[in-house]
Amino acid sequence: MKDLQNNAITVLNNNWKDKFSIPCAKLYPFQWFWDSGLIAIGFAHFDMPKAEKEIETLLDAQWSNGFIPHIIFHTESDSYFPGPDFHRSDLHPQSSEKYKSTGMTQPPVTGFVLQDLYRISKNKKATLSFIESTIDKVYKNHEYFYNQRDPQNEGLVYIYHNWESGTDNSPIWDDIWDTMNPPEYTFERRDTTHVDATQRPSKREYDHYLHIIEIAKQNNYNDQKIAQLSPFLIQDPLFNAVLLKSNQSLIDLYGIIGNNEDKIEQLQKWQKKGTESINSKLYDSELGVYVHYDLRNEKLLRHISSSSFTPLFANLPSKERAKKMVDIMMAKFGDSDQYLCASFDPTSDRFNPKKYWRGPVWVNLNWMLYYGLKQNGFDDVAKRIKEDTIEIIKNNGFYEYFDPRKEAHKDGKAGYGGHNFSWSAALFLDLIN
Ligand code: DGY
Repeated sequence: MKDLQNNAITVLNNNWKDKFSIPCAKLYPFQWFWDSGLIAIGFAHFDMPKAEKEIETLLDAQWSNGFIPHIIFHTESDSYFPGPDFHRSDLHPQSSEKYKSTGMTQPPVTGFVLQDLYRISKNKKATLSFIESTIDKVYKNHEYFYNQRDPQNEGLVYIYHNWESGTDNSPIWDDIWDTMNPPEYTFERRDTTHVDATQRPSKREYDHYLHIIEIAKQNNYNDQKIAQLSPFLIQDPLFNAVLLKSNQSLIDLYGIIGNNEDKIEQLQKWQKKGTESINSKLYDSELGVYVHYDLRNEKLLRHISSSSFTPLFANLPSKERAKKMVDIMMAKFGDSDQYLCASFDPTSDRFNPKKYWRGPVWVNLNWMLYYGLKQNGFDDVAKRIKEDTIEIIKNNGFYEYFDPRKEAHKDGKAGYGGHNFSWSAALFLDLIN
């Protein structure tokens, strides 16, 4: 275990670029929002100044309306498509003048990450003073979400692109692609020069991805226009659970800092409304789990994915619901011949154990589910998901995603996508500590 721990530290140090981390070389050569937050949790275990710098750099790229972009293009790189010239964040009047970025966001992990840094810190006083210097920016980011991304004032925010979900090519989005017919764009993919194309999204999927961005660009990334026009407009249980988890962390941290009653009061209002709405609108009582809601076509997308269980991470389900969810997780995802937790329902015909978010196990989701299960008293399943995560890393290395089928692990080649992937290393360090 000591060797693996040292390897994880080496992965993080190698992916560190002076003031931020890349998720992995070549495939992802810039700073990504939720990667960055989760990476900081790993650094906090052995190098708190880097953890703090990572978050500081991320927040430095915040727009003046509170928005935080999903990719910050710190450098020029021709190993990635689509780059800054495609995304054109400058079209938005409040975008950063200092950094080029995308005009979309990612699950807002920063609030709970600050609380994790505080949990891990051996010098709470110093870490609290770092938190005091950054927390208002995170609050402003939440304010952006509730003011700009909640058109029906429900306490649930929308995402307008599959890359905002973090679960980029989940089979859930197939339902949306069926409603669209984008042009065949001509472009040169770079991801498939670094990684086997069978493990990445298809060309036609990329046409859909680019088309949604074109619509947002034509409207200068205006949130109201996007809400009116984007063919992709989703209330995602993972995204909203992460936002609610981060709200709670901000409430707790402002409580420790003191003198912030007005912000705490506002956060509590968002929290109450959001919790009620996610429990009434995104819970599918027939399936017994949380699912995505398609705001554009006003309907639930009734598929079970690892995102379906993430409300546990924010302590949102009742005791009864939580028990039902865990029973379903074990019945569908938890057979003894599978590692927990496949990213998509292994009993569905859309399941693919090798392809990005269409089935493989991801360490970041396992990490959220581990804490969610533990907080809700499911100690045995929490132990299983933690041990499974450690074992798949031991078997294969710090890959981006892994085959959930145990039989595929026999020759140590069941790790897919990027290698020496930062958050796999970072969250491994947190799980073993
Ligand atoms: C990619 O390029 O696949 C990224 O995940 C987009 O965020």
